[in-house]
Amino acid sequence: MPSERLSVVVTRRLPEAVETRIKELFDVRLRDDDAPMSRAELTEAVKTADILVPTVTDEIDAALLAGAGPRLKLIANYGVGVDHIDVATARQRGILVSNTPGVLTDDTADMTMALLLAVTRRIPEGLSVMQSGEWGGWAPTALLGGRVSGRRLGILGMGRIGQAVAQRARAFGMQIHYHNRRRLRPEVEDALEATYWESLDQMVARMDVISVNCPHTPSTFHLLNARRLKLMKPSAVLVNTSRGEVIDENAMTRMLKAGDISGAGLDVYEHGTEVNPDLQGLPNVVLLPHMGSATQEGRLEMGEKVIINIKTFADGHRPPDQVVPGML
Ligand code: DGY
Repeated sequence: MPSERLSVVVTRRLPEAVETRIKELFDVRLRDDDAPMSRAELTEAVKTADILVPTVTDEIDAALLAGAGPRLKLIANYGVGVDHIDVATARQRGILVSNTPGVLTDDTADMTMALLLAVTRRIPEGLSVMQSGEWGGWAPTALLGGRVSGRRLGILGMGRIGQAVAQRARAFGMQIHYHNRRRLRPEVEDALEATYWESLDQMVARMDVISVNCPHTPSTFHLLNARRLKLMKPSAVLVNTSRGEVIDENAMTRMLKAGDISGAGLDVYEHGTEVNPDLQGLPNVVLLPHMGSATQEGRLEMGEKVIINIKTFADGHRPPDQVVPGML
């Protein structure tokens, strides 16, 4: 299939350099405004495109795919997480799915550390004192947080991002613990000085900080449910830069309000933009608007990956970042 004849539909505004390059290479329909496509627009897009470039804000479910036209052959996601795409149904319909792994690992791990430190060292509270203009000067007892060095960090999901978090946290003097579907190879574990916990319950009960770094799949939905959250030490902190659905947000919110968990740093939410209003305004909670991969460099490299996936497919090969249901 020669690439100039491929019709590519991009569902969101992408960085200008990425859009320019896609335009040079393909017959592309770009987005004029930065709002997500409506369901009707998405339905039209999958009917007419050869290749769809969606993002995390598009729900590419079985019902949408049922209306896909015979031309649709590749969903080249702009992002690493594919929980918004029904990969199994796409496969049944002969549609390949690709994503953008690797290029946002460091950025997301950096943001995990930023949230971890923001919560434990009470940075937003310090910022608001300064912004209020009411700072009375240094005081021995003001805004005391918790030291992170020597503390136990439990990483839930030890893939690329989990391991990058471990590297950073070690540099901060934290002790690294993890739970993962599969135990890491001994040499990787040794390099990270990481302790594996087969039992998530046991790990959760013993950590000072828990960082969620696993993808959202049917088997990780509410992995941190009300029962497991209750196992956490009341002094412990939760950080989530992965997907909100991994934590029962209502149960977590109740516990944060009651002081049964000491704090949380969240970049993602169970119901997308519908953030539990009780979370807002809690002094022990730092909320960010899904910014983990939001660096200029990361977003450009994500675009480059999308282009390579499309180009490789257009040249008659499998996209290098093809996602298959068994990987999830
Ligand atoms: C990702 O790449 O999955 C980020 O969360 C944004 O989509």
